[in-house]
Amino acid sequence: MKFLALLALVSAAVATPALFPFGDNAQEPMMGDVLPTSYPGFDLDLNAPRLVQLEGQEEPITMTELEKIQAKAQGIRFFDVTDAVDLGSRAQLRASVKPSYPTPNNTKTVKPVIDALEIQNLHDTLDKFTSFRTRYYRSETGKESQRWLLSKITDLTKKYAPEPLQKSISIHEFGHSWQQSSIIVSINGTSTDDDSVVVIGAHLDSTNNWPFLPAPGADDDGSGSTSILEAYRALVAAGFQPERTVEFHWYSAEEGGLLGSQAIAKSYESRGINVAAMSQYDMTAWVKRGTREEVGIITDYTDVDLTEFNKKLVEQYLSIPWVETKCGYACSDHASWRKAGYPSVFTIEATFENSNHQFIHTQNDKYDISDEFSFEHMLEFSKLAVAFAIELGGWKKST
Ligand SMILES: *[C@@H]1O[C@H](CO)[C@@H](O)[C@H](O)[C@H]1NC(C)=O
Ligand SMILES: *[C@@H]1O[C@H](CO)[C@@H](O)[C@H](O)[C@H]1NC(C)=O
Repeated sequence: MKFLALLALVSAAVATPALFPFGDNAQEPMMGDVLPTSYPGFDLDLNAPRLVQLEGQEEPITMTELEKIQAKAQGIRFFDVTDAVDLGSRAQLRASVKPSYPTPNNTKTVKPVIDALEIQNLHDTLDKFTSFRTRYYRSETGKESQRWLLSKITDLTKKYAPEPLQKSISIHEFGHSWQQSSIIVSINGTSTDDDSVVVIGAHLDSTNNWPFLPAPGADDDGSGSTSILEAYRALVAAGFQPERTVEFHWYSAEEGGLLGSQAIAKSYESRGINVAAMSQYDMTAWVKRGTREEVGIITDYTDVDLTEFNKKLVEQYLSIPWVETKCGYACSDHASWRKAGYPSVFTIEATFENSNHQFIHTQNDKYDISDEFSFEHMLEFSKLAVAFAIELGGWKKST
């Protein structure tokens, strides 16, 4: 649906009391239909004021939730800074202690873990993860989907991680002021003199352009969430005991203006946690018909050195090449870490232009909508996450 048409619908919806003309299997709304302004289990007030930071604006501005939704539908990206106005107040200090990254050379440890990644796991996880009506962060099904992911991570850890390793793994929910939590999994590092932390992230929420409508979110960002989960499974199954602490994050409310990742980055900043590298995975499945399969390396608003490091990992460990691309201001959760002064990077399924624009944020963001949705492609990103974790986390195998 064209954004202008959507905006007209939204205006109509807000002018009209709540109606529920759409079943879950309805087609995309048509002009003249009235959009629902509430839905059972939702806790979203379209008139609530929010503080929003737009690109190039010195100060955040106040807008309503509805205006945020309209801005997003027009392709405008932003931080909703309502609960994190002071994020980045220590960023200047961080810039002076920039970490450097090695040349990847742990092929002997990385390769066997990559070889143990399984496509079937990607399929099974995503099948369940996309079965919730929506993973919208202010909805009951959004909460249920997050709870399911939490139990999935817990089960995988119990099933695959050797006993001694389990003792250094912690899995917890990071709660927010809205229903859905973020999830943080930490594999404690063995080093006693290196306190730096390596973070691999994705966002677990989904949205429809009009949030009350269904949003299976297969590509955005079920794919990234699933790619990094399979990387985690293979790592712990191999007994990965890093020297530095390696964490996997699944953020809530990316679609609300990077809310979950800002809250977490703010917490890490205030506790002085030394994040040496953060890598975001947002949309890892789409290979547009007629294009070459490649890894999109985002070069704007990302750390230059860590981006170069990521390119080397692609060259060394993946079956497909990288391509440089840009996605603009505040385009995913790595931006929250950057704002706090931490080095962060972002890889995506293709060049931004060739990524999935057709189906994301609609009820058709499903894995079986087109053969352009590729689990093989998702697996390449699992490989990248495995390599990132081992090459930066360090792993002295005792064998
Ligand atoms: C990789 O290179 C580092 C130095 O950059 C060296 O300390 C380490 O032993 C090397 N590891 C392997 C597996 O060759
Ligand atoms: C990980 O390390 C931190 C800091 O040393 C400690 O507080 C925490 O209990 C450890 N967690 C696990 C699961 O070992």
